[in-house]
Amino acid sequence: MTMKDHTSQSEINDEMRAIEAEARARVDDGGAPELHPRRNYPPYRSSILRHPTHELVRVDPEEVELFSPAFGHTDVNVLESDLTIQHRGEPLGERMTVSGRVLDGEGRPVRRQLIEIWQANAGGRYVHKRDQHPAPLDPNFTGVGRVITGENGEYSFTTIKPGPYPWRNHLNAWRPAHIHFSLFGTAFTQRLITQMYFPGDPLFALDPIYQSITDPAARARLVGTYDHDLSVPEWSLGYNWDIVLTGPKATWMESEEAHD
Ligand SMILES: [Fe+2]
Repeated sequence: MTMKDHTSQSEINDEMRAIEAEARARVDDGGAPELHPRRNYPPYRSSILRHPTHELVRVDPEEVELFSPAFGHTDVNVLESDLTIQHRGEPLGERMTVSGRVLDGEGRPVRRQLIEIWQANAGGRYVHKRDQHPAPLDPNFTGVGRVITGENGEYSFTTIKPGPYPWRNHLNAWRPAHIHFSLFGTAFTQRLITQMYFPGDPLFALDPIYQSITDPAARARLVGTYDHDLSVPEWSLGYNWDIVLTGPKATWMESEEAHD
């Protein structure tokens, strides 16, 4: 959590618009669009503290993997992809399914990939000691799930649509509703983390985390699509979201330390 910052939303908006205009001018001058968030993005206040200031220390990944955590594919139960059945009762909120595929830069499926998700409940509250947002906890919702991708790179989660929540980046700062995704890779050293958002969220333009990716097309790839064919009659609303690991259409991935 960041220290309390009394900057107003409109001042943050001005900062974000100025950075975007400068980034757009660079692309107009023939520069490459920025597909990943800036590490140092001042409107996202704590980004300044989080990014490395020195050259990374190079290590032999094979050596690191000798003592890194590992998991067995058989450890993941199929029921873990349903976040609505982890307690005695039904969680409150809008039941939804989110399905998609994990693909590499050439559009090939990434099979047997561990995907983990975590999210706030329908009221925008995490089950987390540091989350002091005065929205109610839901005794029937923990907000974590995992799944292994299938032969076509496909995955599907059943969950509750998370609510937006306030954070202390600036005065009256709210995060758009989102689900955090982690992709494990084949070893702990390859883990990638990103967020999926929901279409039409009025908070996109106001959110320094979403806006820290200056390329509008790269931002848009973080937004799931409502897909009526994925909705289950009288049961849940369906969203589609594909995750592309590499190449020019890659899904943005965030640094390990970020958690907002
Ligand atoms: Fe979050």
